Amino acid sequence: MPSVLIAGASRGIGLELARQYAAEGCRVIGTCRDAGAESRLRVMGVEPRQLDVSNAGQFEALAASLAATAIDVFIHSAGVYGGDNNSLVAPDEQDFEEVMRVNVLAPMRSMAVIGPLVARASGRLVYLSSSMGSIAQMSGSHGMRDTSGWLYRASKAALNAALKCASGELGAKGVICLTMHPGWVRTDMGGPSAPLDVVTSASGLRQVIARATGKDNGRFLDYTGAPIPW
Ligand SMILES: NC(=O)c1ccc[n+]([C@@H]2O[C@H](COP(=O)([O-])OP(=O)(O)OC[C@H]3O[C@@H](n4cnc5c(N)ncnc54)[C@H](OP(=O)(O)O)[C@@H]3O)[C@@H](O)[C@H]2O)c1
Repeated sequence: MPSVLIAGASRGIGLELARQYAAEGCRVIGTCRDAGAESRLRVMGVEPRQLDVSNAGQFEALAASLAATAIDVFIHSAGVYGGDNNSLVAPDEQDFEEVMRVNVLAPMRSMAVIGPLVARASGRLVYLSSSMGSIAQMSGSHGMRDTSGWLYRASKAALNAALKCASGELGAKGVICLTMHPGWVRTDMGGPSAPLDVVTSASGLRQVIARATGKDNGRFLDYTGAPIPW
């Protein structure tokens, strides 16, 4: 039975991915931060684990508890948008630190400590990034001003760079590393006006992940499999 680990499975896209993989018959381990989310995951047949992705010690403890497990698919979904940063005003330090800690430092930690567990299964290591992190598309993308969400955009561009760096070493060990845009999805982060429902996004992501081969290692793809320019 394939093993799937999802960081940030309490709600949104991570929760739906956990539900779909469990329904497919996988062993699914989903991380969350509160008791309510633990119960939601258990009901779906998902094994909950406590993880605040900002906490290095908790990450290492999670990896140690899985030391004997080969992870076929790891998906890092946990992410934050940060406060309103829609004009050319520098983000405040607290906001900057939280967005960078959750969206960049935490993924770098999971690349380092979960990557080896995925290598054992020659599996897939996947990060939910965003097309908003595409530097090539930053000029007027989404019909917005270039500075709209610029802290979030910078964090996802940095996540993409980290993934590209890690894909060399992990790819040599048989891991397929992907950074992915899930679409603009109706979740707490995406908001009610987003065109895509979470079931379609998660189902598309799963299909692209399942189809990925070694040639896709280090690529930036959307939930339909279309490449996104860096
Ligand atoms: N929705 C979209 O349109 C969209 C578009 C492009 C990219 N994305 C990316 O897709 C991913 C999932 O987005 P979403 O829409 O599902 O977001 P969401 O509904 O806002 O859920 C965010 C998830 O991240 C977790 N999280 C945040 N900070 C955490 C921390 N310090 N430790 C552990 N977990 C933490 C949350 O856990 P708690 O419940 O514990 O807070 C929750 O599970 C994100 O990386 C996002 O940037 C989303």
